[in-house]
Amino acid sequence: MQVVQILHMNKGDGQTSYARNSTVQRKSISISKPIIEKAVLELVGSNIMGIESMGIADLGCSSGPNTLLPISHIIDVIHAKPSEVTELRVSLNDLFSNDFSSIFMSLPSFYNKRKQDYDNGGDPNQHAINIYISAVPGSFYGPLFPRNSLHFVHSSFSLHWLSQVPNGLDNKGKCSISKSSPKCVLSAYSMQFQKDFSDFLRSRAQETVDGGRMVLSLMGRPSFDLTTEHEGTFYQFELLAQALMAMVSKGLIEEEKVNSFNMPYYTPYPEELNLVLDKEGSFIKDCIETFEVEWHSSGADINRNVGTFDDDQTITSSGQRLVTNTVRAVTESILEFHFGKGIIDVLFQIFEELVSEYLSNCTTTPKYTIFVISLIKKN
Ligand SMILES: C[S@@+](CC[C@H](N)C(=O)[O-])C[C@H]1O[C@@H](n2cnc3c(N)ncnc32)[C@H](O)[C@@H]1O
Repeated sequence: MQVVQILHMNKGDGQTSYARNSTVQRKSISISKPIIEKAVLELVGSNIMGIESMGIADLGCSSGPNTLLPISHIIDVIHAKPSEVTELRVSLNDLFSNDFSSIFMSLPSFYNKRKQDYDNGGDPNQHAINIYISAVPGSFYGPLFPRNSLHFVHSSFSLHWLSQVPNGLDNKGKCSISKSSPKCVLSAYSMQFQKDFSDFLRSRAQETVDGGRMVLSLMGRPSFDLTTEHEGTFYQFELLAQALMAMVSKGLIEEEKVNSFNMPYYTPYPEELNLVLDKEGSFIKDCIETFEVEWHSSGADINRNVGTFDDDQTITSSGQRLVTNTVRAVTESILEFHFGKGIIDVLFQIFEELVSEYLSNCTTTPKYTIFVISLIKKN
């Protein structure tokens, strides 16, 4: 499966779009805000040569308003602090079939809001900064930018997507790592992640100036074990596999089709991240922090004043609907490619029933584990 050509989050701003169903991801960006701000502050205070024209990239920006949140955080910090920065070159990257145009559509209101904030700011320390936003399509597992052109790199909720499904998996009736997957499945996923993450770091090392900063947040799991205690970090794909098998029982999908299907998705644990960071060696670890976000986090407490989408629908959705829409918005393109468009609505009806049953049996709300990693490019 060519992930690079197939994967995209659900486009546009309809009911099943990523733009309307990404409050969990938005929550994660909001959690990482203090870490982003600290890294930017240290960067602008560091007297790096050429920082008047600062290169910023958001990798795996997807569609909808989320990408403009971290960009706003970065711009706010730079604006508020006296510095040499006079222009920001902001590059938004994602795969080729990403719906970049939905971001472009929201840029006029983004620019207007920034202008209003600046005009009304009244802070004599604020200085004018020109902002140039562009899109850079391509895979972040390879080169994307000219050498030494980036000062700050951000990526959220993207690096758990692998460049490919590991080769030769025998993972019958499952579609990702699972408590009952054979050990070789777990190790094939782990190897693929380590290769991909290492390729990512090597590419960014070429493109980032010495002393440049990178803040990455990604889904993970607290430890190697896929224990019940940590099942929130992988169980949504266990339920998706159950929904697919239920469709096999109804004669709607062939069992062989399910057996040959796996997600290009992996949740690493801290030792694995540290291993790759140490082995690749281009970046100093400033911090790695762990957070938890509830499966049906509505994001209602998050400042959403950066885009044009009205997400009342998401905020009032029931828990199981919110979880279903979140998973659907990110997996539909991959599922459609393998099984065809015809199964999607029924699949997610069954999935929602399974999520509802699962949530009603949980004593506490299941949570995703998020790692936020702050890195400094070595000299
Ligand atoms: C869940 S979305 C996260 C979007 C946004 N950063 C946020 O936090 O809401 C993950 C994004 O990563 C992108 N992605 C996955 N693999 C990628 C790759 N190899 N190169 C670039 N983007 C990739 C996907 O296309 C998707 O848009």
